[in-house]
Amino acid sequence: MNLERPRRLRRTATIRESVAETQLSAANLVLPFFVTEGSGREEAIATMPGISRWSLDRLPAYLEKVAKTGIRSVALFPKIDDAKKDSTAKEALNPDGLVPRTVREIKTNFPELAIYTDIALDPFSSDGHDGLVHNGEIVNDLTVEILARMAVIHAEAGADFVSPSDMMDGRVGAMRRLLDERGYSNVGIMSYGAKYASCFYGPFRDALDSAPKAGDKKTYQMDFRNVKEALREVRLDAAEGADGVMVKPAGAYLDVIRAVKEHVDIPVAAYQVSGEYAMLKFAAEKGIFAGERVMEESLYAIRRAGADLIFTYFAAEMAELLNRRQP
Ligand code: PBG
Repeated sequence: MNLERPRRLRRTATIRESVAETQLSAANLVLPFFVTEGSGREEAIATMPGISRWSLDRLPAYLEKVAKTGIRSVALFPKIDDAKKDSTAKEALNPDGLVPRTVREIKTNFPELAIYTDIALDPFSSDGHDGLVHNGEIVNDLTVEILARMAVIHAEAGADFVSPSDMMDGRVGAMRRLLDERGYSNVGIMSYGAKYASCFYGPFRDALDSAPKAGDKKTYQMDFRNVKEALREVRLDAAEGADGVMVKPAGAYLDVIRAVKEHVDIPVAAYQVSGEYAMLKFAAEKGIFAGERVMEESLYAIRRAGADLIFTYFAAEMAELLNRRQP
């Protein structure tokens, strides 16, 4: 006799479904998307099959389709024209810039969507760094002052969450203080707490044309050999008033997601970044594996590791798949 026969619980789809330990729904997914100046534009991003940059006039039709899948949360990233970039990243503080205009547009047409805006200087900086560059160094405290003002501009436009992705020290506290001072105590901070210096951001930097002009991001983004450092970062962010913390990238950092989840009592997000998306898409295009199934497996793995929210370029596609499964 064999008392233990684990396969009994895997015998039929109904049984497997009834004992599945991990659930995923559209409510857990956040769709990052790219906007660009001009009109009539839908620019495909060569390194991210299926993903485009949208001009503001074309955005509603796209978001309409997204909302139909059940996705209710979106994260906005702007491609800024080179002519507007400079070493002070002053366009980041333009109250009529691409980000505030897009937020207002979405809030008018899709009031039910929650909007996360990115707080970092790289799309606006001629240096392509997340902070100001002085004599080759990324300066912390001056950058933090600008980021806090940027957060207020996004809050004014109607953002639900501001998401600092810059990894400067002390930015969450500075943003929280200025937001509260200006009357935006209801605007949340979803902090990229544990953001690693990663090759997996490559396609994103193509999408925004935001790669660093010199050097890399290793003096502010984290070293991929570290996990205790991630716990320290998220502890500080939580203490400074973050409403949620993020681990980024996701797929190669599942251990970090798990560790962070056990360390904080606020929601944990994970960002399946552009390079992760690109790898899976291109491999599926080559017939190396079934696209939908590998998408699903990758997202359930991130969820199983402990992510409450997942930022992923697959969000709408995955929501559609879930709808087909459980109508
Ligand atoms: C910029 C930022 C990056 C991403 C999100 N915000 C790139 C970077 O830090 O260089 C990456 C997202 C992705 O790869 O999908 N601060």
